[in-house]
Amino acid sequence: WLLPAFVLVLGYLLGSIPFGLLLTRFTGAGDLRQIGSGNIGATNVLRTGRKGLAAATLLLDLLKGAAAVLIGAALVDGGGPMAGAMAFIGHCYPVWLRFAGGKGVATMMGVVTAMYWPAGIVFAVVWLGALFGTKWSSVGGMAAAVSAPIAMVAFGRIELLPVSLALALIVLWRHRANITRLMKGEEPKVGSSKQKAA
Ligand code: G3P
Repeated sequence: WLLPAFVLVLGYLLGSIPFGLLLTRFTGAGDLRQIGSGNIGATNVLRTGRKGLAAATLLLDLLKGAAAVLIGAALVDGGGPMAGAMAFIGHCYPVWLRFAGGKGVATMMGVVTAMYWPAGIVFAVVWLGALFGTKWSSVGGMAAAVSAPIAMVAFGRIELLPVSLALALIVLWRHRANITRLMKGEEPKVGSSKQKAA
């Protein structure tokens, strides 16, 4: 049991690295908590005006999810999805930030892609399609998250449905302030200067 427990803890610790917060802090781009939505993800890093940092945040948050799945699968037979789920939990609820972490979209994409890459392609296409179609980052992220469990069923990977569905539901839950803003017509579009506190 020691190795599976180690894999779960390692997944959580990997996921809990708040790359957006660290990158913006160490480059002097500002305190993400005081900017825009206050979130630690790539969308909010973009609101600092630093596109490169936002891209790096997206990539690193994605890679930590994928890495957890690959490490988990390498160390424990069938351990990938659980390690990936723990990385996702670590991102959304990091102990270092008193459990106030991100909204999980980039990390979920990494986890989904590493578990079953065709579902990762679907995730990316839905994300980009909804993002560019609506100009709302939150709508893109939520649509992509919901596409993952549907893709797993469509591809016949039923064993990956529970974890995909759980992650999608948590992504929706983490976006509840965005959903409220969308319903009030107050959600800022990507690239707009209007910034609402979460
Ligand atoms: O993944 C986060 C994104 O969907 C929304 O971020 O900062 O607009 O709340 P934000």
